[in-house]
Amino acid sequence: MKEVKIETRLEVYEDISELPVQVQSLMKKAVEVREAAYAPYSKFNVGAAILLENDEIIVGSNQENASYPSGLCAERTAIYYANAKFPNVNMRMMALTASSRNKVTDKPIAPCGACRQAIAEYEIKQQKPIEIYFMGAKGKVVKSGSLANLLPLLFENSVL
Ligand code: THU
Repeated sequence: MKEVKIETRLEVYEDISELPVQVQSLMKKAVEVREAAYAPYSKFNVGAAILLENDEIIVGSNQENASYPSGLCAERTAIYYANAKFPNVNMRMMALTASSRNKVTDKPIAPCGACRQAIAEYEIKQQKPIEIYFMGAKGKVVKSGSLANLLPLLFENSVL
């Protein structure tokens, strides 16, 4: 038996103003779309904005459903639409923000496991990292230079 240690690397910014201007404006789009999320059940609004290599920005918010499992997270709403609209264009970065309507969301909110797996699919497809920036409603922003940093041991199609 040998033990394997898995390490990951993230950058933490004190707030949105510390980010490069291009990322700030992407995060502002995510905030805008977050406000319009359809989250009547959880009251937890999430916004995602994806910058593509053709400079297009695709946004998405969480879409809930009275039949709870039929709802979809903001990240997948955005990334599936990005690849539906521009199937041959690489994704450069994704900005994420979440805000509870019940309490102050002042900590960065990382994408859920299912969304990490979905984002990984496109990172593997394009063979280029997708930068992920995530925050709450205010405060610190975390940057992961690649989705792979957020999902060690991810399941990939090379095994199929
Ligand atoms: N949600 C997202 O949109 N993204 C995540 O990564 C985690 C959770 C949504 C799903 C649901 O509408 C609400 O947040 C509460 O779980």
